[in-house]
Amino acid sequence: MADMIRIDFQALGPVGSGDLVVFVGEDLKLAPAVAKLLGAKGADLIARAAGSERFKGKAQSALTIAAPAGLAADRLVVVGIGADKDRAKLDGAILGGLVMGKVAGRSAVIVLDLPGVEAAPELAAEMALGARLRAYTFDRYKTKKKDADKEEATRLTFAVADPAAARKAAKARDAVAAGVVIARDLVNEPPNVLGPEEFAARAAALAKAGVEIEILDEKAMRKLRMGALLGVGQGSARGSRVVIMRWNGGRAGTAPVAFVGKGVVFDTGGISIKPGAGMEDMKGDMAGAACVVGLMHALAARKAKVNAIGAIGLVENMPDGNAQRPGDIVTTMSGQTIEIINTDAEGRLVLADVLWYVQERFKPRFMIDLATLTGAILVALAQEYAGLFSNDDELAERLLKAGQATGERVWRMPLGPEFDKMIESKFADMKNSAGRNGGSSTAAALLQRFVNDVPWAHLDIAGTAMGSPQSEINRGWSSGWGVRLLDRLVRDHYEG
Ligand code: BES
Ligand code: MN
Ligand code: ZN
Repeated sequence: MADMIRIDFQALGPVGSGDLVVFVGEDLKLAPAVAKLLGAKGADLIARAAGSERFKGKAQSALTIAAPAGLAADRLVVVGIGADKDRAKLDGAILGGLVMGKVAGRSAVIVLDLPGVEAAPELAAEMALGARLRAYTFDRYKTKKKDADKEEATRLTFAVADPAAARKAAKARDAVAAGVVIARDLVNEPPNVLGPEEFAARAAALAKAGVEIEILDEKAMRKLRMGALLGVGQGSARGSRVVIMRWNGGRAGTAPVAFVGKGVVFDTGGISIKPGAGMEDMKGDMAGAACVVGLMHALAARKAKVNAIGAIGLVENMPDGNAQRPGDIVTTMSGQTIEIINTDAEGRLVLADVLWYVQERFKPRFMIDLATLTGAILVALAQEYAGLFSNDDELAERLLKAGQATGERVWRMPLGPEFDKMIESKFADMKNSAGRNGGSSTAAALLQRFVNDVPWAHLDIAGTAMGSPQSEINRGWSSGWGVRLLDRLVRDHYEG
């Protein structure tokens, strides 16, 4: 949605009116370029204001000095980055979001000379990304705009040692920001507006960025015998869809990496209907698919040197005279059969067919699926971590690292024969629910039966994707979780 923000880069040097943003450590000491810019009077001003406001330069704290004496700036914003030992934890995106929060609706120059920090172009780019994410709002359906919305665009100018290098790094990061915005928008959209067909149309818009699009309708899926996915959608008046997105930025002929998303556009639970309270949140049960679309946009828009597949299963889970029942047995594309115990355990059914299809058709280097799969992952990890399940230690390790680097953190959870045994069925090859205990691991165990031997990771994002705690880079309901994580994974390990 309209994020009113303009970002530019300039060389370090004298600045005029508007807000001036500088950074200090816990000792309030200024980095050389800032000390030079502010002079002795400026340093003294900061010391006095800090004293009276009890500002100590702690990480993620800030001090705003209006009409600073002796400076051309309208306001001097002093942002703390904490003690020297905190430097390793410095998160550029969070810092950019914090600055954006302080200068929203204004024009600001941000001096990127931080005490004890090597101000690489990457830091400027990460800060710009954080500022864009902080600026995100979803107000498409508010007919009366608040006064804040009438405010002028925010203008951020980063003063850096090498503006050209920063601009280049920021351009790639803008692609990622746009991908996060796409994912957030899709998750925020109301479910009457966004059915499987409308979602597919939104994904198809990636063609503009150079992504190849294929849409499978129900007829095509019946031909492929995707009985599990089709069973979930059969109670809905809206037809199910699978969308395949391909970005061919890598060398021709090299196997692609593949991302698979759960796209339940609304999850009532079906015949095993959910309680009414909070059911509106189930419009976000397509957050996995939304992340895959956002990620594919990011990869294409920054022309990532990788071949990547995005595949999403789009269905609506509704109770109806034609809906599937507990006790039904469906046959998946793989040929394996699943007894439906609970029609509310529908995400795994959708993924079973899409995972199988992707590994069989594309023989990918790896598959990573994202799904708002289980309430149990919220019980285990709250909204702090996504659950990571994987049959491949190297892939799992890389995801853990990318999570630490981006702040989209994952926590590895167990898979194994114990959980696989728990989904044995009296009547079919497996059942779709084994009850409450170990609910996230039994769900993952079912998925594992559809990945063959392909290196695979499953991210249960039921906690992280929506209703997320507010942060410096997210003020809304949906977080767009996973786009930054997986862009980083690709960038660090699978390009070139
Ligand atoms: N979409 C839900 C999981 C969910 C819960 C997502 C809360 C976001 C927030 C999923 O389809 C579901 O209903 N799972 C059931 C599985 C159970 C019936 C085995 C659950 O977690 O209760
Ligand atoms: Mn469900
Ligand atoms: Zn669901």
